Amino acid sequence: MSDSPSAAGISVPAGFADRLIDWQRRAGRHGLPWQGTRDPYRVWLSEVMLQQTQVSTVLNYFPRFLARFPDVHALAQATPDEVMALWSGLGYYSRARNLHRCAQVVVAEHGGVFPANARTLETLPGIGASTAAAIAAFCHGERISILDGNVRRVLTRLLAFDGDMAQPAQQRALWVVAQAMLPAAPSGDDMAAYTQGLMDLGATLCTRSRPGCEACPMRTLCRAAEAGAATKYPVKTRTLKRRHESWWLLVLRSRAGDEPHVWLQRRPTRGIWAGLHCTAVFSSEPEALAAVPSGVSLDAVVALEPVAHSLTHRELRLHPLLVDVTAEAVSGDGQWVPRSALPAVGLPAPVRVLLDRLPD
Ligand code: ADE
Repeated sequence: MSDSPSAAGISVPAGFADRLIDWQRRAGRHGLPWQGTRDPYRVWLSEVMLQQTQVSTVLNYFPRFLARFPDVHALAQATPDEVMALWSGLGYYSRARNLHRCAQVVVAEHGGVFPANARTLETLPGIGASTAAAIAAFCHGERISILDGNVRRVLTRLLAFDGDMAQPAQQRALWVVAQAMLPAAPSGDDMAAYTQGLMDLGATLCTRSRPGCEACPMRTLCRAAEAGAATKYPVKTRTLKRRHESWWLLVLRSRAGDEPHVWLQRRPTRGIWAGLHCTAVFSSEPEALAAVPSGVSLDAVVALEPVAHSLTHRELRLHPLLVDVTAEAVSGDGQWVPRSALPAVGLPAPVRVLLDRLPD
């Protein structure tokens, strides 16, 4: 079969869309809890959770979130703390804040109904171009292409597209080609199968390292595979360098009453772990020790095993310092939280692990 006319100067392999849809229906992923529905609330929630998080993790969070917030009205009425508590552990907490704001905008400005096209969806908080396209394609069969990191990998390989993905102009050029590759006249659930097919190919065969080219349905169309050079793509010049940082966490614990309590403060609304609850954080050990309440001997400070934690731009090494104090010794911004209440509090994942494992 010869290739179709070009888009952005690149010829598009003929037969790609039909082959992808056929493969997805036969061999793609089915039965994930957010599939088999056209409910935009469920599709939106799953897409936001899946933006930076693996399917296996989202499988735990999605049903719990839905059970507590079954529709956009329930979510819009929640408090920020309730949303954060259910998001705790998924990371990238700006997603949770945007999710909550988005639900409120959908209720206040769209009568509780998600807009039915990608262009309008994209105006909502936390919905970027690719998420908007996914929702519109899955729920309304809109003829529009997603283009997240996985799909960029699939398409740059298929086309041997060597534009630098660090450059927005090259990303836009790839999106123009992605649009030209869509099924010409989709009907029924073609767009849902096509969109899911792109995701499934990127997640299962066209993986970052050691792609499964032998088993790939696109083997005979793929220009990178033909050249034996799949892993050369995508081309991206800027690579993320993570800064190494150490933080000291002062864990103040009071044993008054019948259960242990920890002193938690709310993090600032901007920056790392924004809006979550956390122990006091310091950038050096002397600063942390200087914050031990007066009257408490520094001999009572127990240095616990450090914990490593990666963020997008940082490699953190967390050094917990545990001190048992009396409740009256501590004052200022913050509150004593009993151990039994911690599951309902929005905590950064490594801090939750640390507090769950405090020695007696
Ligand atoms: N990643 C992003 N969206 C997804 C979806 N709907 N199914 C599986 N993985 C995904």
